[in-house]
Amino acid sequence: MHSFHYDKGALHCEGVDLQALADQHGTPLYVYSQATILDHFRRLDQAMAGLDHLICYATKANSNLAVLNLLAREGAGFDIVSGGELQRVIRAGGDAGKCTFAGVGKTRAEIELALKAGIYSFNAESEAEVRHIDAVAGELGLKAPIALRVNPNVDAKTHKYISTGKSENKFGIDFSIIREAYARAAELPNIHIRGLQMHIGSQLTSSNPFVEAVEKVGPLADELKAAYGIEFFSIGGGIGIVYQDSLASGCHTWWEGREDGAKPLTIEEYAQRLVPLLQPLGLRILLEPGRYMVGNAGALLTRVLFEKRGSAKTFKIVDAGMNDLIRPALYQGHHEIAPLREPAPGVGAEKVDVVGPVCESGDFLAQDREIPPVGEGDAIAVLSAGAYGFVMASNYNSRPLPAEILVDGDKAHVIRRRQSFEDLIAGESIPG
Ligand code: LLP
Repeated sequence: MHSFHYDKGALHCEGVDLQALADQHGTPLYVYSQATILDHFRRLDQAMAGLDHLICYATKANSNLAVLNLLAREGAGFDIVSGGELQRVIRAGGDAGKCTFAGVGKTRAEIELALKAGIYSFNAESEAEVRHIDAVAGELGLKAPIALRVNPNVDAKTHKYISTGKSENKFGIDFSIIREAYARAAELPNIHIRGLQMHIGSQLTSSNPFVEAVEKVGPLADELKAAYGIEFFSIGGGIGIVYQDSLASGCHTWWEGREDGAKPLTIEEYAQRLVPLLQPLGLRILLEPGRYMVGNAGALLTRVLFEKRGSAKTFKIVDAGMNDLIRPALYQGHHEIAPLREPAPGVGAEKVDVVGPVCESGDFLAQDREIPPVGEGDAIAVLSAGAYGFVMASNYNSRPLPAEILVDGDKAHVIRRRQSFEDLIAGESIPG
């Protein structure tokens, strides 16, 4: 589900009128629905109820302290990829003991921080990393809990930049040598082998690659349990969400009636297919969803500054750019665009490019997109922007980072104030 809908002609997030938010807080503005995040967490938790499981939310998708706090209070664990994310989780009230630490390039400082905080497991991505973790743990007089990330060489059939489970990707240890890697890790004095991990990619819209990966790696998990007493198997994240027609469909139905017969990847189907494969392993199953949890919970509000009619195209120039939401530029990501004022019935659509103010041709939010007519000064919502939106924003062109709002019913909380110019240059100095 998601909580963006028109009510008496005005686009709302839960009970809050987005036009009022845009007027009060300015644009660009990220807005998140608390109810959607909670609904997604609880539905996944429920669907996995037949398993001993822990949902380790992929912090990278949206790491605002308020979002982390919300999930921590639900009992979530966290999948982190940096010392910064670990500190965020702790600051937000999360439990380091429920954190897994992924990533191919952990530094000594990050490993120390994580060891001292008592994380649940390092998900190590190379043998060199395991040796490094062993050495750092030895110096601290601690034992480091680890899982190895196996690269199962399964095609996730997603965008090449977010596919991770093929041999040509930099992630994980090749399936063909994983047993030897475990055997060598087991000989290290400061390593405690706790689990096995995999993650084949992001924005998967079919359960088939997940099934293929679990069928391939499940027997390995079984072997490792017998050999080293591993206690968990993390199947990673990657559950895809609906980006297209998400407003009209409430997120789960746009596939219906499609000629290619594609089906939505629902949590129910994901669980129905995976739980029976995982249950016999008798292991604790970890899940690392990011996008599923927050993607459709967020929108980016932006205002039309100008319209420019060229000979080839009509451009709607808005006040949010690729520095605020980079997904269209980087992954050809499709984000639905909805005017904050509901178009009157029968009003035709116009084919436009929605572009930002950044000095790059790649600075667009939508290209050749049919949208209802919007004029200068009108605000629009760029939907499904709750995951990998704000977290990937930058100060390019010296543009301040947008504010973030968390909506809870009819209340809107500012969970990050808009960056000021002074914030933006803080830390810089002129020699002399
Ligand atoms: N676990 C690991 C080890 C990961 O690398 C990732 C995502 C996740 C879990 C969470 O995946 P999710 O459930 O969100 O699909 N910026 C890109 C997505 C990058 C994903 C990176 N890894 C985008 O905007 O599409």
